[in-house]
Amino acid sequence: MVKENNISAVLDAAASKKRVSGFTHDFYNYPARFSPLLAREIIKSFSQPGDLVLDPFMGGGTTLVEAKVLGRHAIGFDISSLSSFLSSVKLNPLPKNRFSFYSNWVRTTLLELNCHKDVKRPTEWISKGYQRNLSNKQTWPIRKVIEQFLESLDGATNDELEKNFMRCVLLKTSQWALDSKKVIPNVQQFKLKLIENFESMIEGAEDFWSSSNNSLTLTINKPADCIHNHTELFINRQPKLVLTSPPYPGIHVVYHRWQVFGKRETPAPFWIANSLDGHGLSHYAMGDRKQKGLSTYFSNIKNSFASVRKVCNDDTIVIQVLAFSDIKWQLPKYLRTMEEAGFVEFIPNEQRIWRDVPNRKWYAHQKGRTSSSQEVILFHKTM
Ligand SMILES: C[S@@+](CC[C@H](N)C(=O)[O-])C[C@H]1O[C@@H](n2cnc3c(N)ncnc32)[C@H](O)[C@@H]1O
Repeated sequence: MVKENNISAVLDAAASKKRVSGFTHDFYNYPARFSPLLAREIIKSFSQPGDLVLDPFMGGGTTLVEAKVLGRHAIGFDISSLSSFLSSVKLNPLPKNRFSFYSNWVRTTLLELNCHKDVKRPTEWISKGYQRNLSNKQTWPIRKVIEQFLESLDGATNDELEKNFMRCVLLKTSQWALDSKKVIPNVQQFKLKLIENFESMIEGAEDFWSSSNNSLTLTINKPADCIHNHTELFINRQPKLVLTSPPYPGIHVVYHRWQVFGKRETPAPFWIANSLDGHGLSHYAMGDRKQKGLSTYFSNIKNSFASVRKVCNDDTIVIQVLAFSDIKWQLPKYLRTMEEAGFVEFIPNEQRIWRDVPNRKWYAHQKGRTSSSQEVILFHKTM
């Protein structure tokens, strides 16, 4: 079923240490995101132009962007509204005919940003805690210029797609300034970074539009276990490929917060993206990583893939990239759970593909037994 040349391109991509970005991939640094090169080779090897690719845990939208530029239709689901925001900006970046307008706008706006000037405070967001941990003497100047930028943006346009692109420029810059930084940059450095990010995102958008084609993409902010409630999306076309990376068992990845000074969490990304959050980590990670036996996690995986199974056909292939905090029991359990959901593993070339992921900021629960910097690529077909 799997041709040898299919798998050798995937093996090369899995082994590659090259940092591949391009298109709109670098619009945000989504935690635990795919290597775009690996996603690209998997999509090229296991689907054809015009096929449908599904990602039930789309995160930062890597699968969808690669599917789209390769001429595949793509549907993504994710429980996080931040994921939907990012994926839809990456799939609908600023149109080319608006580049010069926003290039002028962003330069004029940057001249106006000044942490000593008044700004209308976003009181609703503040009252709901979205600016938590952004008010100490190093963070308040950045918070204030973010507020000023958002206020100017509201006056600049009513076009939601354009607004979201500019929010994403701000989001990327604010992540750089606030997330896991020991020293918070000053306002001048923030402004320089903002213009640098705007320019690189415009280049990415140009690259994306140049490869554009008329394949369709859809991003849905819902949990994977309700995919089967959307059968209308799959009537004419079932997924040829499900390419995804669910939350990893027992591994702590903070998808939905920034960690100010490396430890104090802020939900500010949702405020900047104008999308509501309101959930704790276990909501996005499928349960508490310290729960014995990870029963919530595994029942979530089962329900999610059982739902995916209902929209697949006999030809669908499911490819997942996963890491484990304790492979010994979690990998067999994961494979059993996939079987309960209606999928059976197959191993191309009779050897599972593992890859090292350097510099990952993950925390496994089981001290000393962590293998979380190693990822495995699992292949399944329908039973
Ligand atoms: C490892 S990340 C995916 C990263 C993605 N492959 C990328 O390249 O950016 C896992 C995602 O699963 C999402 N998630 C967690 N529970 C979910 C659920 N029940 N249904 C759908 N998505 C869920 C999280 O919000 C997170 O975005």
